[in-house]
Amino acid sequence: MRLDKFLIKTLQLTKQQRKRLLADHQILIDGHQALSLRQNIDSELQKITVRGQQIISPTEKYYMMYKPEGVICAVKDDQKQTVIDLLRAEDQIEGLYPIGRLDRYTSGLLLLTNNGPLGYRLLHPDHHVEKQYRVKVNGDINEETVALFARGVIIDQDTLCKPAKLIILRHSPTESEALVTLSEGKYHQVKKMFLSAGVKVIELVRLTFGEFSLDQMLKPGEYRELNQAERQLIKQYLSDDIYI
Ligand code: URA
Repeated sequence: MRLDKFLIKTLQLTKQQRKRLLADHQILIDGHQALSLRQNIDSELQKITVRGQQIISPTEKYYMMYKPEGVICAVKDDQKQTVIDLLRAEDQIEGLYPIGRLDRYTSGLLLLTNNGPLGYRLLHPDHHVEKQYRVKVNGDINEETVALFARGVIIDQDTLCKPAKLIILRHSPTESEALVTLSEGKYHQVKKMFLSAGVKVIELVRLTFGEFSLDQMLKPGEYRELNQAERQLIKQYLSDDIYI
């Protein structure tokens, strides 16, 4: 949540009061002066004090889901089942949305939150958040494919992708499996990159997103709240200086 929204919600402060408190260095976040009223904060992860008094509002939620195939990454859809539809009714709280998109038939790690700008920050190109996928393709891949991915694949005729790391797990003329790690998120990027290498993706599972890893205990369609250690990881994305 943005600091200004937080101050309105918890202390009902006017714009003038908020600006004055900031200018007077009366707002501290984990002991440091707040930098901007547009800063993204979480009072469960950070200690927010205003004029020396700690302010708490435990409203931010973070979930990790094993997105199954066939479900779309949207909040609402008239025809197709969305990732939000998979949540228990009591967890379908207002403002919850998936951070980033996986294609309908891609499965794997998906984070969901109601912390407004957090998703934009995690997806912001300046953050270079790495994502690793396990990929199955319908043909052979080899060291040339590894080198091609390392140089940067061209997709959509003239779009050069950033270098990607490819680790081949097994390969044969009819089916191969690999791990691919990207630091950007273009539309259908993994599928297009493999098509540029002459093979079609037949299965795609996201295993990691930044420092988050898909929980081995989750089955497709299951989800859980982020644990304490994972919530600490979120903190780094709340305090840096990209304001959206
Ligand atoms: N690349 C794709 O092609 N699809 C996804 O869902 C994610 C990355």
